[in-house]
Amino acid sequence: METPPWKLLVTRHIPYVLEQLAKNPTIRVDCYEAPDTPMPPDELTARAVGCDGVLIMHTDKITGSVLDAMGPTVQVISTISAGYDHVDVPACRARGVAVGNTSGCLHVSTAELAVSLTFAAKRRLAESHKCAAAGDWGKPLPEDVAHVYCHPRFCGSDVSNCTVGVVGLGEIGLTYARMMHFGFQCRILYTGRHEKTDLGGLPATFVDLPTLLAESDIVSLHCPLSEATRHLIDAGALRCMKRTAVLINTARGGIVDQDALAAALAAKTIAGAGLDVTTPEPLPSSHALFQAPNCLIVPHIGSATTRTRQAMCDRAIANAVAGMAGRPLPSPVL
Ligand code: DGY
Repeated sequence: METPPWKLLVTRHIPYVLEQLAKNPTIRVDCYEAPDTPMPPDELTARAVGCDGVLIMHTDKITGSVLDAMGPTVQVISTISAGYDHVDVPACRARGVAVGNTSGCLHVSTAELAVSLTFAAKRRLAESHKCAAAGDWGKPLPEDVAHVYCHPRFCGSDVSNCTVGVVGLGEIGLTYARMMHFGFQCRILYTGRHEKTDLGGLPATFVDLPTLLAESDIVSLHCPLSEATRHLIDAGALRCMKRTAVLINTARGGIVDQDALAAALAAKTIAGAGLDVTTPEPLPSSHALFQAPNCLIVPHIGSATTRTRQAMCDRAIANAVAGMAGRPLPSPVL
């Protein structure tokens, strides 16, 4: 291990991160200059040569060959994200490179966004907003025709007392499930690699994926993206869902076969979707999912509150500093 000052490559120009790092005299920072733009992969690799650590975003891919090209000085990869599917963790382990993430910082904000998307999909907010913006508030309601109040374009379905299927009951999935159960009296089903023993008093039933899909009014994805979960929600899975059900994804776009989802929404074999994540990101505005009336897509903002983003930056910096100093990381992935 080198002695300070340590050299840290920061792949995204985030003023808060730079301000915090500037307070630490043990660190020399090299930061990719362009604001809000991912660092080109070749430049990332080239500028990491000779660095002790690299502070990355979920948009930066770290593979074994990237690590080899960076060279042996890099001691730590610290990602400003909870997800780490963009980092080849076994390759880091094999090279003795520590990996840190920001778990523990963003579960509440991300669960809150999943709740927001749940309501948006169930209450048809995307299409209602478009109609309102176009001056279409539905036909005037003659006082004597009460049933017009049930105008099918704007009628959604209730969230309270629904059955919610949570795919992946980790930190974020559990927080979402608690919000849905204790806030809206929903019945919780969940699936994942194994049944959990301690759910902190949350009544939830472990089921297999087909059962969860068949019984849920709301299916919310919270599992990591891996080879096992890529396209977990494909055409067959979507066919298992109720026609009245909605799909929520705040995890990773790759978990869903988007063409199959667009087809299911167009054919109305499910009622709606709320997506914080897509493949790719940004999703081209010509994509069929943007044509689906009851599909609300937001640009990967699950953790996007000022407080949460600052906590994530602080944690990622702490991971990087600890890794460069050869100390245990506060949030190690391995
Ligand atoms: C996370 O932290 O994994 C969020 O999805 C942002 O990448």
